[in-house]
Amino acid sequence: MSMAKLLLNDKEYEFPLITGSEGEVAIDISKLRAQTGAITYDPGYGNTGACLSDITFIDGEQGILRYRGYPIEQLAEKSSFVEVCYLLIYGQLPTAQELKDFEHKITYHTLLHEDMKKFFEGYPRTAHPMAIMSAMAISLSAYYPDLTDPEMIDLNIIRLLAKFKTIAAFAYKKSVGQPYIYPRNDLSYTEDMLHMMFAVPTEPYQLSPVITRALDMLLILHADHEQNCSTSTVRMVGSSQANLFASIGAGVSALWGPLHGGANQEVIQMLEMIHKDGGDYQKYMTLAKDKNSSFRLMGFGHRVYKNFDPRATILKKATDAVLNELGVSDPLLDIAKNLEEIALRDSYFVDRKLYPNVDFYSGIIYRALGIPTEMFTVMFALGRLPGWIAQWKEMTNDSATRINRPRQIYTGSVARDYTAVNTR
Ligand code: COA
Repeated sequence: MSMAKLLLNDKEYEFPLITGSEGEVAIDISKLRAQTGAITYDPGYGNTGACLSDITFIDGEQGILRYRGYPIEQLAEKSSFVEVCYLLIYGQLPTAQELKDFEHKITYHTLLHEDMKKFFEGYPRTAHPMAIMSAMAISLSAYYPDLTDPEMIDLNIIRLLAKFKTIAAFAYKKSVGQPYIYPRNDLSYTEDMLHMMFAVPTEPYQLSPVITRALDMLLILHADHEQNCSTSTVRMVGSSQANLFASIGAGVSALWGPLHGGANQEVIQMLEMIHKDGGDYQKYMTLAKDKNSSFRLMGFGHRVYKNFDPRATILKKATDAVLNELGVSDPLLDIAKNLEEIALRDSYFVDRKLYPNVDFYSGIIYRALGIPTEMFTVMFALGRLPGWIAQWKEMTNDSATRINRPRQIYTGSVARDYTAVNTR
């Protein structure tokens, strides 16, 4: 077996190496503390492998993303979101019959318990839909018991996939003050999402194949991304044996942050700001590079991709096609393209390997599809749901799983004696 050697205080230790199916190498330090008394320090966990996983492969240098071995480019072009859900969660592509059964199941579990509607009523209209999404995902555990039988866990997975979409659409209806629109069993997953968001009791929503296909592709592109912040959160919470709904609710909260899923909303707000300010890109490029300013070029940079984000490449092409097909022209698209062009030539961005990420163009497509800005992160959550579920399932079935409990290096005061303050 190959080993790594560590020299610590003149003593040599050996640690086994683990090699992944794509040749990635890890040093197994699970016995490090027991053998040496030392721990590792890795803020942000950029060098830490927290699990072995069969689900998603990313090569950040080469710009490769594959779900269960299938390249994202092929899935985005030829597959459907529901098929990708099956692939991620069950490990292989479904047969025609398996796909039909799966579609049937996630269609016939879409209704929310009527009592849950009261929760939506209690929120102020200004509530961000992500706050509602997170609370509602956890609230499902109040209705569907935490069962350990694999068949019942599978049923809860189906329920979550089916109902999450209804929750997302209801959260939107709440924000615009319109009546909730119930799911329709004759529609596909993505059509039903659009129907519940945009139909009103007085008028059905006119489904467009261009819009449905574009949304389906966006959901596929977001479906999994190995151990990112929200997925690690799902695994972290799940490692304490918290139930599926509680773990996913925590993942939704993690996704909300502007450095993660919240970036798609921030990108559009940034582009709108630049547009209103007369389109002066250079001013904002200078600000993004200024270390005294907190302004960042949202939609740029990635912890893992250091060459290009393959999802951004697919989306850039798709943005032009979708906007053309819909006959929409958006000045924000021109601003985005100009910013990208300048950034790709600017040494600040080039040296730091900062490239457009998935969020840079997704917001422009969402806008063209008529999806409001505050729903962008919700759409990301809807797309990421099968990835979270697949990772949660893999974690619970992995005999190596232990409760996640990192350590720390304490840097506070050394022991000191307490002296009471004289209050007289
Ligand atoms: N605009 C300007 N500068 C940026 C930047 C951006 N979008 N992203 C990173 N940088 C700079 C940092 O200031 C840092 O510069 P320094 O080395 O001079 O200190 C360097 O690039 C490395 O950035 P860092 O924040 O350490 O990288 P990270 O891996 O911790 O963070 C992101 C990755 C994605 C959080 C970060 O690139 C970011 O904030 N991007 C914008 C938000 C976004 O689009 N998020 C969606 C991700 S899919």
